[in-house]
Amino acid sequence: MKTADTALFQWVPIRTLAPRHRERAALHLLALEPHDRYLRFGFAATDEQVRRYVDGLDFDRDELFGIFNRNLVLIAMAHLAYSPDAKSAEQRATAEFGVSVLKQARGRGYGARLFDRAMLHGRNRGCTRLFIHALSENAAMLKIAANAGATVERDGSESAAWLKLPPDDLVSRVDELVGQHAAELDFRFKVHARRMGELMGLVRDVGDHIGEKARIASE
Ligand SMILES: CC(C)(COP(=O)(O)OP(=O)(O)OC[C@H]1O[C@@H](n2cnc3c(N)ncnc32)[C@H](O)[C@@H]1OP(=O)(O)O)[C@@H](O)C(=O)NCCC(=O)NCCS
Repeated sequence: MKTADTALFQWVPIRTLAPRHRERAALHLLALEPHDRYLRFGFAATDEQVRRYVDGLDFDRDELFGIFNRNLVLIAMAHLAYSPDAKSAEQRATAEFGVSVLKQARGRGYGARLFDRAMLHGRNRGCTRLFIHALSENAAMLKIAANAGATVERDGSESAAWLKLPPDDLVSRVDELVGQHAAELDFRFKVHARRMGELMGLVRDVGDHIGEKARIASE
């Protein structure tokens, strides 16, 4: 069981993505190796198909989340998709989860944290079920789903995982709000730190240049 201390220690800044992040989302997905693209999309997606998927992302209907590193690279991204042509109330209350984490950032719990965030968001939006479609060989994805309590149904090379979500409450709403604000602060801090780094680099360059001029003048 997670204690408040471990939850705080494992806190990961997860931002809600907007249309302005489309290009970063494309770069993230294009950086996935062929086998990872195959696992993510269920087929060997070409660059063009990845671009089409990103161009078609509906940031109003669906929810996209991302984790940025200190260089502001999108290292992990999740898509919580709602069916555009849901016919029944049950279909409308079901969302499909898809995720990817860049190879160098795997095994740090980002995939699981994004899943937690998707569960929280789904609950707060009145969603009662999460659905995950994964290839049966995708041990990591199926572990994330199973750890969260999902029922996994294997059908040969394909698997489907279903997770029932509890209704939202005050805690789930506050949790999401606080998480979002903290992630925005974290991102602004990273932007600031990066600018400071660039500024310090510039100051160093100018110093080196002046030093070089002084050395030449004294020769
Ligand atoms: C699936 C994926 C998102 C997992 O990301 P991640 O950040 O490395 O996952 P986490 O660190 O949160 O690990 C989650 C769980 O899976 C386990 N796991 C991770 N990699 C594993 C592997 N290769 N085999 C078995 N289990 C694995 C972890 O041990 C952890 O379980 P635990 O908490 O019980 O220890 C990542 O591997 C990925 O991007 N794969 C390519 C795209 C993809 O498959 N997307 C899913 C289909 S929608």
